[in-house]
Amino acid sequence: MGKQKQLLLLRLILSYSTIISLLLASAVAQKEPKEVEKWFKKLPHTKEKVTKLHFYFHDVVSGKNPTSVPVGRANSTFTSPTYFGLVSMIDNPLTTGPGPKSKVMGRAQGITGYASSEELCLLMTLNFVFTSGKYNGSTISVVGYNPINHMYREMPIVGGSGVFRLARGIATAETAKFNARSGNAVVEYNVMVLHY
Ligand SMILES: *[C@@H]1O[C@H](CO)[C@@H](O)[C@H](O)[C@H]1NC(C)=O
Ligand SMILES: *[C@@H]1O[C@H](CO)[C@@H](O)[C@H](O)[C@H]1NC(C)=O
Repeated sequence: MGKQKQLLLLRLILSYSTIISLLLASAVAQKEPKEVEKWFKKLPHTKEKVTKLHFYFHDVVSGKNPTSVPVGRANSTFTSPTYFGLVSMIDNPLTTGPGPKSKVMGRAQGITGYASSEELCLLMTLNFVFTSGKYNGSTISVVGYNPINHMYREMPIVGGSGVFRLARGIATAETAKFNARSGNAVVEYNVMVLHY
């Protein structure tokens, strides 16, 4: 092989490895501080975009592997018709379809608590942590009022990370299935999110 050909081959290999390492780097959503700083500096020239997300949230409170577990309550919770004071930690799967065997695209992790002595409503403080596809490793944070017996519940998206840095938006929840015996529920989420 001539020197010229060898050089050309070397360049080709180098450029391929650069492309591959760039692809790998962009697949990891949580970046080092310098990269985050660069991203912020570019912000004035970056256009905001709207992303629509749709998934099902599986709240499993009973059975062998509950994903929603009570972690605290007040004495008066036992006599409250609205479970006021009952606090749970959740790590609920988020799936593309309503069925339990549907593809998992993330988890809803956080703390929910019955926050009213007059109606059945939850304070939701949680992160949607995506674990597959182009949002793998990115998160969206929700803090909201969730009156679970209402048909639609609008909850604010207050931020995010990775693809969803500086996110704002609305997550609308609608109960798709509720099993009164087990207490398990499947909730459909439609999320509209503004981000860069
Ligand atoms: C809650 O109930 C327990 C058991 O009856 C009692 O020992 C405790 O003092 C109560 N706590 C409060 C804050 O009332
Ligand atoms: C998501 O990202 C993690 C960490 O980068 C990686 O280990 C995992 O394989 C990815 N999952 C999918 C389904 O792409």
